[in-house]
Amino acid sequence: MIDLRGRHFLTLRDYSKDEILYLIEKAQEFKRLKKEHIVHDYLKGRNIVMIFEKTSTRTRCSFEVAAHDLGMGTTYLDPRSSQMGRKESLLDTAKVLGRMYDAIEYRGFRQDKAELLAKNAGIPVLNGLTGSYHPTQMLADMLTIKEHFKHLEGLKLVFIGPTRNSVANSLLVTTSKLGIDYTACGPKELWPDRELYEECLKEAKRNNCQIELTEYINEALEGADVVYTDAWVMMGEPNDLWKERSELLRHYRVDMKMMKKAKDNAIFMHCLPAFHDQETELAKELYEKLGLVDLEVSDEVFNSERSKVFDQAEDRVHTIKALLYEILK
Ligand code: CP
Repeated sequence: MIDLRGRHFLTLRDYSKDEILYLIEKAQEFKRLKKEHIVHDYLKGRNIVMIFEKTSTRTRCSFEVAAHDLGMGTTYLDPRSSQMGRKESLLDTAKVLGRMYDAIEYRGFRQDKAELLAKNAGIPVLNGLTGSYHPTQMLADMLTIKEHFKHLEGLKLVFIGPTRNSVANSLLVTTSKLGIDYTACGPKELWPDRELYEECLKEAKRNNCQIELTEYINEALEGADVVYTDAWVMMGEPNDLWKERSELLRHYRVDMKMMKKAKDNAIFMHCLPAFHDQETELAKELYEKLGLVDLEVSDEVFNSERSKVFDQAEDRVHTIKALLYEILK
């Protein structure tokens, strides 16, 4: 019997394989209810406060839509519209919010701040992205993969690019628990933290799957079912890193030639937002600076039939809803 009531959701490292699979199954049920327009306001009268120290489209909207579908109230706080950080410490803020709400969503720069909130708020804290982990993204990604391939165990997922960013760290954790072979492919300078890698290696052994780190693209992509990439610089990292990163990573840009090295039916994934065209202010700025039309992924791959990026985005809602429901029911 799986019971997640009252649990924090900070890294996924403390969730078992069965608990993660259970959340994905629940998300599938909620997805069906939503598609069939069946009301599911099971958490009427409950409230969540969402703290965003960084900008967001998918995570914020998914929490809001999921909470509202469940009948919950929501409050959105950013550093400019609250006292947090400037006039009131995070610790005091946690204690105050814990008296008012049933859960806290936190998106910030540092993982230790999410942990501090969790220790002191007295209510569940859900990580909506820190500099180290992005666990709610993982639930959505696993739902997208499961719905596409009809199973998870035995697949091979290859992350190409900055292999120690929050999404890549979380993929390492999640795949090792779910029996998915994981290859992190990118320059050595950006490989994951050794301690996390060792922890996940042990977990992977328990779940009969492999983890590999490599700089070699051809070797990495052999037999890949999923090719995943992410922006070369994370939110919160200094802007002047773009030049250095683009030099380090330019050979790791995912294009059709690269996709053809994976299995014929391999899919492309990205947590978004992606630098795949010139339609954003930042992409134009980077073009002026670096002369690159696209960065981590070509527009052709991004918009191809292999690309599941908008399924991933939609699945954020269904999986966050399952999480909220299971933690707060
Ligand atoms: N993938 C993701 O977290 O998107 P947002 O930054 O828009 O929330």
